[in-house]
Amino acid sequence: MISRYSDVAAVLGDLRCVPTIIGSTVAEILPERDDVVRCRHAQMKNSLGEIIAVIEEGMPRFLANAAQNVILNEPCDLVQDLLKPWCLKVAAYALGITPEPHLGSLADHIFTASAFPYNPELQAIASSATVELAAHFDTANPIALQTFIALATSLPCFIGNAWALLFNHPEQLRRFQKMPQLAPLVVEECLRLGGPPCIQFRRASCDLDIGAVRIRRNEKLLLMLQLANRDPSVFADPDTFDIVRINNPHLTFGKGGHACVGAQIVRSISRRMMIMLLSLFKTVDVIEPLQWQGLAIRFLDHLTVVLK
Ligand code: HEM
Repeated sequence: MISRYSDVAAVLGDLRCVPTIIGSTVAEILPERDDVVRCRHAQMKNSLGEIIAVIEEGMPRFLANAAQNVILNEPCDLVQDLLKPWCLKVAAYALGITPEPHLGSLADHIFTASAFPYNPELQAIASSATVELAAHFDTANPIALQTFIALATSLPCFIGNAWALLFNHPEQLRRFQKMPQLAPLVVEECLRLGGPPCIQFRRASCDLDIGAVRIRRNEKLLLMLQLANRDPSVFADPDTFDIVRINNPHLTFGKGGHACVGAQIVRSISRRMMIMLLSLFKTVDVIEPLQWQGLAIRFLDHLTVVLK
């Protein structure tokens, strides 16, 4: 288990530490080649470019539609009633399919299994959900399926976590309300303390040293992203939620050759969605206690509030 920022960042950037999944039965892990990883990453970014352009073009309409669906002065579950249906629509539009709720449920099964990687029943459900969902996408685009799942699940998960953080820190929320232009910094701080991924998994393809510790070939490494994001040697006053934090090199999107290729669109959508919602209410009551879920990914199933 690796939690120091410098060690987590070093492993993420080290191609001898290969991404893996829990329960993988592969006996031998080979190191990845730098040029192969770079090329794969560039191809992914390229495939995503067109999808991002479609989202950016449709965003003003999507935000107007979301604003119409915000309920004021009565209980509203921001995760289930607003964010998930909205992100499903954005995902379906971006990928050129119909936003059927059934497709959202299939994506949810896959997301939940990633959040609980040690639960074999959830993994089995996710395997069949993946097969069923994949049938809706053009196989010519290698990241269409992954993009749909990320937009329909990781994105609302993050925005829900972010609002929960803001609601728990009313003085920071008021500051943001007075200065919506802080949105880029707010989103980064929410990614640091409320980013969904808590653990990334890697496997050592050879003996190697991380800090003062010798890692043996084939050993599994658990990278504790959320702990690295609170490392006091990198983040001043790390447990404080500070929406004007300047030096914020969090690891929520990973780092290096496997870093999230969706980071740009996550930032863009989250900033605009947050500014839009912020403009609609003055005060908020969180009317149900928050129940955090997940092990490798942290999420809220519900965020029930009254916006006034
Ligand atoms: C807040 C939402 C999201 C978070 C926190 C997140 C975070 C991550 C993380 C931590 C990784 C793995 C990095 C590693 O293994 O080192 C990853 C990979 C990836 N993400 Fe995201 N992601 C999010 C949303 C998205 C979205 C919306 C998309 C697509 C539009 C996306 C596309 C991808 C892809 C394609 C990869 C695989 C990259 C590779 O294997 O080289 N992600 N993401």
